[in-house]
Amino acid sequence: MKNFFSVADVTNLKSVVDEALSLKANPFGHEDLGKHKTIGLVFLNPSLRTRLSTQKAAMNLGMQVIVMNMDKDGWALETRDGVIMNGTTVEHIREAAAVMGEYCDILGLRSFPSLKDKEADYTEDLFNKFVKFAAVPVVSLESATRHPLQSLTDLITITEHKKTNKPKVVLAWAPHVKALPQAVPNSFAEWMCKAQEEDLVDFTIAHPAGYELSEEFTEGAKITNKLDEALADADFVYVKNWSSFKEYGEVYPVAENWMMDNEKLKLTNDAKVMHCLPVRRDLELSSEILDGPNSLVIKEAGNRVWAAQVVLKRLLEGLK
Ligand code: CP
Repeated sequence: MKNFFSVADVTNLKSVVDEALSLKANPFGHEDLGKHKTIGLVFLNPSLRTRLSTQKAAMNLGMQVIVMNMDKDGWALETRDGVIMNGTTVEHIREAAAVMGEYCDILGLRSFPSLKDKEADYTEDLFNKFVKFAAVPVVSLESATRHPLQSLTDLITITEHKKTNKPKVVLAWAPHVKALPQAVPNSFAEWMCKAQEEDLVDFTIAHPAGYELSEEFTEGAKITNKLDEALADADFVYVKNWSSFKEYGEVYPVAENWMMDNEKLKLTNDAKVMHCLPVRRDLELSSEILDGPNSLVIKEAGNRVWAAQVVLKRLLEGLK
C-alpha cells in the first residue's frame, strides 16, 4: 500500500478485515515494524476519534507520533498556485507538505471540504497537493469527499456483529441543524457497494428527495426516499446526516420524521444501529437508541484503532 485514500487502495475487503481483527486479538504482535519510524498527523479540522485511534494504532506498531493542529498552531496555509501571497496566508502547501515529509516517514491529513467550491472539493485539490508535495505515503484522516478509516472501521464492526452471511445494511439520512459534508456517507456507500460486489452485504441507501449522493459512490446500491420501506428486515442501520450534493452544501427542510428511534427500530430485524460520532442526541439519533442494547456506536469507535493499525501496518510494509 502506497497511500490510503479510498476503498480503491484495498484489493480484498475480507482479507483487510480479517487482518484488522487479528491485530485486535494481538495488538503488539508487530511492535518492531514501526521502530525508528515517525508518523505526522496533520489536522486542519477538529477530531477526537481519528486523532486518538490513529495515535494509538501507530504506538501499537512501535512508531513515534507527531500531531500538528495546523488549523490552530500552524501558519495560515495557501493552497492556490500562481497567487502573490500578499494577503492573510503565510505558508504555501508546497513548502509545508514538503517540510513535514522531511520529518516523517508517513503523514496523515484531515482536510474537510469547503462546501462552497464543489469542483475544488470533489477533485480533492488540497489532499492531492499534499500527497504530491509530501513525497512520503499519506493516509487520509478524512478528506473533502471520503473518510476511509471510518468506513473500514464500519465494515470491521459489521463483520464482528453480523448474524447472517449477507446482512442487510441501510445507510439512513438523519436530520441536523448544520450543513455537513458528504464525506462519511460517500465513503460508507463506496465501501458497502464494494462489499456487496464481494457478496458480503446487501446495501440500501434511504434519504429524502434532494439529498442524492454523487453516483460515483453509489453504483449497485438500492436507493429509496422511503425510510420505512428501507428499514424492513434491516440488520444494520447506519445513521448519518449530509447536505445536498446537487445544490452543493444546501440544506432543505424535510417535513417527515427521519430521526431513528425505537418505533422505527421495530420495523427492522432487531437492527444494530451505527453512527461515526460525534452525534447530536435526539436530533440525529434518539437517546433511547444510543443508550439501548442495539447501539454499536462505542464498539464502532473502539474499532477505529484496528482499522488504523492495519492500514499503518500495510503502509510500513510498503516502505521496505
Ligand atoms: N468519526 C470521526 O472521524 O470522529 P472525529 O471527527 O472525532 O475524529
